Amino acid sequence: MTDVLPAGSLDGKVALVTGSSRGIGADTVRYLAEAGADVVINYRNKAPRAEKLAAQLRELGRRALVVGADLTDPASVAEMLDAVKAEYGRLDVLVLNASGGMESGMAEDYALTLNRDAQINVLEAATPLLGEGSRVVFVTSHQAHFIRTTPTMPEYEPVALSKRAGEDALRERIPGLAEKGIGFTVVSGDMIEGTITATLLERANPGAIAERRESAGKLYNVSEFAAEVARAAVDPVPADNTRLVGDVSGFAAE
Ligand SMILES: NC(=O)c1ccc[n+]([C@@H]2O[C@H](COP(=O)([O-])OP(=O)(O)OC[C@H]3O[C@@H](n4cnc5c(N)ncnc54)[C@H](OP(=O)(O)O)[C@@H]3O)[C@@H](O)[C@H]2O)c1
Repeated sequence: MTDVLPAGSLDGKVALVTGSSRGIGADTVRYLAEAGADVVINYRNKAPRAEKLAAQLRELGRRALVVGADLTDPASVAEMLDAVKAEYGRLDVLVLNASGGMESGMAEDYALTLNRDAQINVLEAATPLLGEGSRVVFVTSHQAHFIRTTPTMPEYEPVALSKRAGEDALRERIPGLAEKGIGFTVVSGDMIEGTITATLLERANPGAIAERRESAGKLYNVSEFAAEVARAAVDPVPADNTRLVGDVSGFAAE
């Protein structure tokens, strides 16, 4: 057990983390469960990993629902939220973590479909289950959050633009969410050591990680960044709805 969140701070709550079969999403859902939440683990391809994680969280005494859903397929998203409703009847925390766009062989507009359209669709499908005092967290990178003022590596640019478009579209929903008592926080982090995205960028751009680590002083790893995402689900919503994780030197504010 870790003490990322105070023990019992999410007792009786229900949390869904998209893309939580692996990486940052998996560590986030674990921290939320350790703090008492019953959880929904969503995956697209990695069913065995999702089931293994669910079994570990059930050993903590939590309920864990595992739902395979391709978030770019609206019917699949509707089925996922129907399953959440049938199992728990409500949702207190929604973490929009799943992301992509660097996979090979996808349609040209896939990044925008997943990182903007699917995020809005998941939020809209989940809203009827989100009550007063609930929280939505959108996970992004500094390279995407600051893309309008700070260029990034060419290989990542389409993903960065699509994630920023998703962030903007979600931010437009803040007033409507606030009326329902739903808080919204964007969590943005620098490149995370040990992730597939960082590995792909390093392959295309040898030395990029070391260079970024040097200018930032430190890069977060998966579990450290996931801890910040989990805290954003519990801490008060910042005035600008934004939680910037780690060093932002080198990124220009708008
Ligand atoms: N990696 C970094 O350096 C970095 C830095 C800052 C912020 N972030 C942000 O942190 C979040 C997680 O990043 P990560 O590196 O942990 O990602 P990752 O390892 O690539 O994992 C992505 C997750 O999203 C799921 N997913 C992908 N496409 C999906 C789809 N169409 N439908 C449903 N699920 C889908 C994957 O499911 P399957 O496993 O089943 O395919 C997986 O669980 C992202 O929002 C990312 O922008 C990452």
